[in-house]
Amino acid sequence: MDNKPSNRETLTVTDNVTGKSIDMPLLSGTIGPKVVDIRKLYSELDHFTFDPGYTATGSCESKITYIDGDKGELYYRGYPIEQLADKSDFMESCYILLYGELPTREQKSSFVGAITRHTMVHEQLTRFFSGFRRDAHPMAVMCGVVGALSAFYHDSTDITDPRQRMIASHRLIAKMPTIAAMTYKYSLGQPFIFPKNSLGFAENFLHMTFAVPCEEYKVSPTLAKAMDKIFILHADHEQNASTSTVRLAGSSGANPFACIAAGIASLWGPAHGGANEAVLKMLMEIGHKDRIPEFVKRAKNKDDTFKLMGFGHRVYKNFDPRAKVLREACHEVLEELGVNDPLLELAMELERLALKDDYFIEKKLYPNVDFYSGIILKAMGFPTSMFTVLFAIARTVGWVAQWNEMIEDPNQKIGRPRQLYTGPVRRDYIDIAKRG
Ligand code: CMC
Repeated sequence: MDNKPSNRETLTVTDNVTGKSIDMPLLSGTIGPKVVDIRKLYSELDHFTFDPGYTATGSCESKITYIDGDKGELYYRGYPIEQLADKSDFMESCYILLYGELPTREQKSSFVGAITRHTMVHEQLTRFFSGFRRDAHPMAVMCGVVGALSAFYHDSTDITDPRQRMIASHRLIAKMPTIAAMTYKYSLGQPFIFPKNSLGFAENFLHMTFAVPCEEYKVSPTLAKAMDKIFILHADHEQNASTSTVRLAGSSGANPFACIAAGIASLWGPAHGGANEAVLKMLMEIGHKDRIPEFVKRAKNKDDTFKLMGFGHRVYKNFDPRAKVLREACHEVLEELGVNDPLLELAMELERLALKDDYFIEKKLYPNVDFYSGIILKAMGFPTSMFTVLFAIARTVGWVAQWNEMIEDPNQKIGRPRQLYTGPVRRDYIDIAKRG
């Protein structure tokens, strides 16, 4: 990215009180809106910017993922998500995100080999699980167990060493499905299933999740393909809440395992990765087509906290391209599995009614990726509580790619935002005896 001022274009800001003004450079990326470099605003004008929720703030320079929210486009390293979902596979998409280019055949097989060799977890890590209640939410267990990885893999926590950084990245991508499947098995009271390195990434995850030691279990190719596609679609999404959390945690020099655990915690929220679980809960609560208008009405009511889960996005204001791919995949998977899920019909009807409703049209609220992923995952046999865990498996590569990019960025500094302080001004302490 050429982040030099574009043809010396600037934005002039004048403080109308002091009359002082400064020219702030406008930076150009390869695509996307220009970015005002406000770094001199504080040193020269003594002002901060105010942007809660970072709706107009670029927090970093990145070459990894690009989103055009108006056109509904998403690229990983320039490759459109539709092409990757159609022609690539998750391992290849991981390679692209981590290394920036499509791999040669040899590079791909050596990458797959590296990931495959890291799928097992330290045997003592398995003991962590018995400390959790069996009815714990799987994301609670994920936060704890992934955070604990830094207590096991000391040889990949020196963030100044690029080799250690890459080993930690491979370990995280490889071990996340193993830990996720263990989380599920623990909740059921079933034994953990070891990874099987002859299987592909998604296939192996499904095997560890659904196999039991006493029976042969053959993973359905349809399910493995659908799972792989879901992983591709969720692999990265530029500076979303969990990725920004990973970057912020990592900006202090924290180790990668701790940073990814922080990302998992952020992902869990219902406004982010937790939405896929919330969509299913909402559909079950609606229960019947006849009740949809009532829920749409509630979503539009300012005094009601209810929102249509799976609708709306901070960046996409046209459609979410991931939702488009998943919508099709959803129908295919349900058809191939012979699942006739009334919830899918309910979802389609909800989508139809919301899309023609003035409120949703005006506010540009479209179904997002989470609207459809839950329905496919349910058909595949996952309980709703596991949905966000699957999102975490896929997003791990995005987190580590962004974390690596940040560490390598010569402009990288500890993330330390400022604030608009509206609390009390200086006042003197009053002794308790004099306070009445
Ligand atoms: N149902 C009803 N109204 C909505 C919805 C919705 N799902 N989403 C946004 N609005 C309204 C919102 O109340 C606001 O109205 P007003 O202008 O009158 O105050 C307006 O639309 C703009 O929304 P916002 O909350 O200011 O937008 P945001 O960019 O801060 O939030 C969002 C984006 C995704 C958090 C939000 O749309 C939402 O909570 N959606 C439901 C949860 C969801 O599906 N999340 C998954 C996001 S995609 C996957 C991911 O990122 O993990």
